[in-house]
Amino acid sequence: MKISIIGTGYVGLVTGACFADIGHEVVCIDTNQEKIDLLIEGILPFHENGLEEMIMRNTLSKNLKFSSSYSTAAENEIFFICVDTPNDQLGKPDLANLNNVIDSLLQSINKNSLVVIKSTVPLGTIGMIQEIFDNFLQDLNFEVEVCSNPEFLREGNAISDFLQPDRIVVGANSTNAIKKLRKIYAPLKIKEKSFFSMSIESSELTKYASNCFLATKISFMNEISQIADSANANIHEIKEAMGADKRIGDLFLNSGIGFGGSCFPKDLEALVSSQKQFNLKNGILKKVIDVNKNQLDFFIDKIMLVLKKRNLSKINIAIWGTSFKPNTDDMRESPAIKLIKKISSHANKLFIFDPVCSSERIKKELIEINNANIVEEKYQATQFSDALIICTEWKEFAELDYTKLSNTIVFDGRNMLDKNSLEQSGISYYGIGT
Ligand code: UGA
Repeated sequence: MKISIIGTGYVGLVTGACFADIGHEVVCIDTNQEKIDLLIEGILPFHENGLEEMIMRNTLSKNLKFSSSYSTAAENEIFFICVDTPNDQLGKPDLANLNNVIDSLLQSINKNSLVVIKSTVPLGTIGMIQEIFDNFLQDLNFEVEVCSNPEFLREGNAISDFLQPDRIVVGANSTNAIKKLRKIYAPLKIKEKSFFSMSIESSELTKYASNCFLATKISFMNEISQIADSANANIHEIKEAMGADKRIGDLFLNSGIGFGGSCFPKDLEALVSSQKQFNLKNGILKKVIDVNKNQLDFFIDKIMLVLKKRNLSKINIAIWGTSFKPNTDDMRESPAIKLIKKISSHANKLFIFDPVCSSERIKKELIEINNANIVEEKYQATQFSDALIICTEWKEFAELDYTKLSNTIVFDGRNMLDKNSLEQSGISYYGIGT
């Protein structure tokens, strides 16, 4: 089928590339001409496993094209809107990008079309967009149907999440829209029970509820990890035993310095804002945000206490990891960046290493920090440091040469290392609840 993808951010590019890869003819549109020019040359604005190869392959086979022109987009009848909706200062999603896209589509669509909203939008937005189209097109002889198809892609795993999804959710007012979306996703051969069609409102809320539930699991375990710390219990043992209960499940129970990224924090804020709008009392969702903030402070206090007990002040500290999670160079709302900003005044020098985030981008994130040194190799960071803080659970941080850490106190903000084996090698180790 012929599909136009509007927005070449994270969701748009992954969606466009994957649709092309499963056989559709796709054009990806972005008003940023510079970005489009780079994409045509095969240069991506971010790192995502396997995406560059997939884009190259499909550009060569001409299944995938890039353009900044809405008239090119309007040659097709199916539009996936994938622009970002970042939160404004009040915690409400900023719909400026989405509104610009709707304005441009109103000017360019000229036949019966289906507009599919993949962007995570505030509850009720898709109904409002439908009204805008209906009002604008009143006197014209074609119709535009707007429907919802939220994405559940994890950064770093986006391609496999797209090609082997746990579920596909479609919110639509007509069977015609649902039929079209079934056809678009048919090459994925997902089971019938994994395709959920529902009302637009339910679909919008399913996306928020899913992300907020996952964030709740993490905050719950982080709160338990603080108790485990005081009670001398081991969070790893607790996690394994809890996860064995099928009703709980063993995923998203890793404690550490908390969740970040462009989705969980934003989606929690957005739902809390919806509660306010509906005059509902806030409860769990607000607490999930609070626990996440508190967890970082808890860990920093723990680090400070250890250093104080050892009479260590203003020491050199190595930081491993700046992205909000492994396998991505995304530092939006990264707990690592927050930790670095909070801890920098307590350190003499910071030596920061991340396997993928570039020095320029890290420097930009830490513009106000004047004792931060970005290094190119993980042991270059620990070489002159008295302490190491692990902030992101990159796999390569678990593969350690203990001899290179012999004089370093290790603070594991992701509970990813084995305390016993480090201590047996004479290395001081501190996690959270371990
Ligand atoms: C999240 C969801 O997992 C996706 O399903 C969703 O589509 C996406 O948001 C979105 O709305 O676009 P993502 O933000 O890529 O995906 O990241 P996650 O893998 O969910 O991790 C989020 C944060 O939680 C990371 O900072 C990670 O380190 C942290 N985390 C994750 C934990 O602290 N503990 C865990 O057990 C798991």
